[in-house]
Amino acid sequence: MKPSVLVVEDDVVLNQILVRALTKAGYDMGSARTWTEARAKLDAQAPDVVLLDMNLPDAQDLGPLGEIASDRPTIILTAHGSIDHAVRAMRMGAADYLVKPVNLEELELVIRRAVDGSRLRAGRAVDHAASAARRTPDLLGNSPAMKRLWDLIAAVADTQVTALITGESGVGKELVAHAVHQASGRRHERFVAVDCCTLQETLFESELFGYERGAFTGADRRKPGLIEAAAGGTLFLDEIGDIGAALQAKLLRVLETGRFRRVGATADLRADVRIVAATNRDLQRMVQQGQFRADLYYRLSGFAIEEPPLRDRRDDIALLVRHFTQRRAAGGVPHVFSDAALRLLRQYHWPGNVRELRNVVERAVLLAGPNTVVEPRHLPTLNADAVGGTSESSALLQGEPTLEDIERRYLSILLQRYDGNRRRVAEVLGVSERTAYRMIDRFEAKTP
Ligand SMILES: Nc1ncnc2c1ncn2[C@@H]1O[C@H](COP(=O)(O)OP(=O)(O)OP(=O)(O)O)[C@@H](O)[C@H]1O
Ligand SMILES: [Mg+2]
Repeated sequence: MKPSVLVVEDDVVLNQILVRALTKAGYDMGSARTWTEARAKLDAQAPDVVLLDMNLPDAQDLGPLGEIASDRPTIILTAHGSIDHAVRAMRMGAADYLVKPVNLEELELVIRRAVDGSRLRAGRAVDHAASAARRTPDLLGNSPAMKRLWDLIAAVADTQVTALITGESGVGKELVAHAVHQASGRRHERFVAVDCCTLQETLFESELFGYERGAFTGADRRKPGLIEAAAGGTLFLDEIGDIGAALQAKLLRVLETGRFRRVGATADLRADVRIVAATNRDLQRMVQQGQFRADLYYRLSGFAIEEPPLRDRRDDIALLVRHFTQRRAAGGVPHVFSDAALRLLRQYHWPGNVRELRNVVERAVLLAGPNTVVEPRHLPTLNADAVGGTSESSALLQGEPTLEDIERRYLSILLQRYDGNRRRVAEVLGVSERTAYRMIDRFEAKTP
């Protein structure tokens, strides 16, 4: 696959020159002329590298860089004579910089270096999952509940205390973790996210702690782990409730001693990371049931941040809707929701929280099509037409469905609610993940 580059530059001519030169050099190109447009494209296209002008009409100085540099290599385009700017940019995590007028040979060289660097990193399973799935937009919301949340974030940010973020699926725990990092003195260093549920225990240990040459078959050179990659920065352990007993013990040791050991090593290293963990499980109950170590739980929850579900902060809904419609519009005219449609959104109970809201908004925008006003009829899953019960359950029972119809409809509601996360769906259904897989396959085979 061709590596992709997004050029963000408001000067039309320079923008075209850059796109042409890099297309010729074999890159898959995207271009944007404003920060708003760039944001939308970042989300939609997930480029490998970004070439970013320092002087955009709708952005402040280094603001855009701060937002994206931790997610993907970003190369700054700066005007001749503002080298101090470039230095500041490098400190904020820019991969490199180019001074205008841009020398095309230098351009290619710098891009190639950035792409190679990011591929290297992408070769590592965890980090790849981390960077691909994790673009981190801002944590939005003005509701009283969100204001309290911001106070907590500010209070914990500049301490070294481990923070534990809890809350239902889709409330935005990952965004909170990122906000803690951004508000801390570590913001110029890396934010490394690790998805604890995606890896097997043995692999996980070597990814997290690194390994020495010869530690196991195939370890032909020493490799530092993610703790070292995050040195000076923040290590985000997502879905912490999912790690097994052996890793729980090892992690406890890191938290207690501030030290860790590479697999196959004989000496410890100091862990210079701030740890933030998140889970949507009830860890306290897991402790009672013997599935999670009590001592680790107490260490982790040195500072607990509970993120409220969306239904407890309905005042944020309108703002979030505007955010998601603008993002979809990719710089064009965004859809607006009619009062009636917004009312429906406010009434709904949002079991899948902000993630579900995002999915509902995106679907509604598609359904509304060229009509830029979204009406209740574009919100089929929320459109309460039945007496009693929630709108979803009435959709579930519409007509005289067979048991299989109900199964299929319920499955599709859950898949939408949990963003296709089969593990979550299986949990809700109370079946094994394998059974859920089989159900989904069976129904997908049947839908044309
Ligand atoms: N306050 C918010 N402002 C803007 N976007 C948000 C907000 N909260 C959540 N989102 C968006 O909703 C989606 C889900 O958020 P996130 O992945 O952080 O949830 P989560 O709590 O980690 O869920 P899970 O437990 O399922 O992993 C993301 O696309 C995120 O960008
Ligand atoms: Mg999450």
